[in-house]
Amino acid sequence: MAKSKTHYVCRTCGGVQSRWMGKCPDCGAWDALEKFTESKATTAAAPGSLAESWVGLAGGDPGDASLAAAPAKAVPLNTVEAIDAGRTPTRIDEFDRVLGGGLVDGSVVLLGGDPGIGKSTLLLQAMGRLASSGSRVLYVTSEESAYQTRLRAERILRADGAADDGPTDLDNLYVLADTNLARILEQARKVRPRVMVIDSIQMVYKPDVDASPGSVAQLRRCCTELVYLAKVANMAIMLVGHVTKDGQLAGPKLLEHLVDAVLSFEGDQHHAHRIVRGIKNRFGTTLEVGLFEMGEFGLREVSDVTGLASTRATERPGAVACPVMHGTRALLVEIQALTAPGFLGSAKRKTSGLDTNRLAMLIAVLEKHGGLRLADQDVFTSTAGGMKVVEPAADLAIALAIAGAHLNRTLPAGTAVIGEVGLGGEVRPVHQLAIRAREAARLGYRTLIVPEAGEPLELSGVSIQRVDHLQMALAALDPTSGSGASGSPKTKKS
Ligand code: TYD
Ligand code: MG
Repeated sequence: MAKSKTHYVCRTCGGVQSRWMGKCPDCGAWDALEKFTESKATTAAAPGSLAESWVGLAGGDPGDASLAAAPAKAVPLNTVEAIDAGRTPTRIDEFDRVLGGGLVDGSVVLLGGDPGIGKSTLLLQAMGRLASSGSRVLYVTSEESAYQTRLRAERILRADGAADDGPTDLDNLYVLADTNLARILEQARKVRPRVMVIDSIQMVYKPDVDASPGSVAQLRRCCTELVYLAKVANMAIMLVGHVTKDGQLAGPKLLEHLVDAVLSFEGDQHHAHRIVRGIKNRFGTTLEVGLFEMGEFGLREVSDVTGLASTRATERPGAVACPVMHGTRALLVEIQALTAPGFLGSAKRKTSGLDTNRLAMLIAVLEKHGGLRLADQDVFTSTAGGMKVVEPAADLAIALAIAGAHLNRTLPAGTAVIGEVGLGGEVRPVHQLAIRAREAARLGYRTLIVPEAGEPLELSGVSIQRVDHLQMALAALDPTSGSGASGSPKTKKS
């Protein structure tokens, strides 16, 4: 009889323990250990066993065969020959930008994101573009039926293709609705796709692993198998993973070290903007982001963001425009604040899109160095369009938005604000000031409030106001504009 070994695997970090514990000693997650019984049969099936049969079939790169056959030899680093890793651009520029120029052959990319954010839509569109450029692609859907995928594809890809070079050719786009990894690999062998998508990895299972789909054991096995397949068949594989704290699903954290690149698809479900961000990329930078907008016909690339802030934003008290860096690009984001009478000692500080700790700090700085009394005021802040802004460079804009809301004053029309605020109320320089300023100027902002220190700025038609202290920036809030003030704002004389 097959002897079975039982151990406990952490759902969060994948650490293996010999007995159950309430808290994982490796990552500190509570109630994350999951019982895993490994039978003899399972142990015998080494990782890559399913993909093994691919060896030699791939043709092409001789490096592939060596992966399975000849043992590797240690060589001096400078004698290592460059392998020309082919890249397949998906032809969705914003997506390629994050991938570092396209999908690298033989690599595995994990795309994570909240349910309903648009992962399937993005990958289907990418596959559509690849298919119409002549690459054969296989879209494995383990969550939806093949027909559902077809309906969606027809709807979004026709619209997508119509934009540039006619309707998308769907002949090269293969779809498979299956969750059994063995059958998926069998079909992949028949279809021989250049790129394969598994949507999602959490639903896929390997029959000989005695665990439910989505469990740590299944995820790790299936992922290892697919990584092996990608290398052997020189095929790019994209995996979709859910990021949820739901007990049943193992977090993609577990898979991060197995794959070549991890991308995160972020955004607010209630807003149209979506961002693809690189978290890990063995073949490119993780600084770049890709911007999309979800619309009626799927995702649209946003190469020029103008909708997140307008030069007229500052006409309202409590609204300030700030150029925020996303990768190598600056985006003008409107930061909004509202203050309302609250209770001294238990005033609310709430934010959507900004960092709560940073907000609390800025309120304290405004009290101490800006002469504002906010202790009995509820302060609410948000970013327009659901963008997340975590950069300290937005500090001054947040502070001016709060002060403007509280004093019912506005900045002169067409003003953008850049600067980090220190605990002493000093305005610190920010990185990439020139790029931010140029973008603001391009979008029609005519006054820029920037830190005193920092690179010189020469922009025609733009007035640059250098400030070195919060007080100086607060002076820019137009005192005459608050005529329609309801209630008299309280200010401390300092
Ligand atoms: P989906 O790609 O299924 O998300 P995920 O795979 O990340 O779970 O997208 C789901 C949401 O996107 C859905 O709530 C509806 C919206 N959506 C649109 O608004 N327009 C579209 O054309 C499509 C395809 C989806
Ligand atoms: Mg989906």
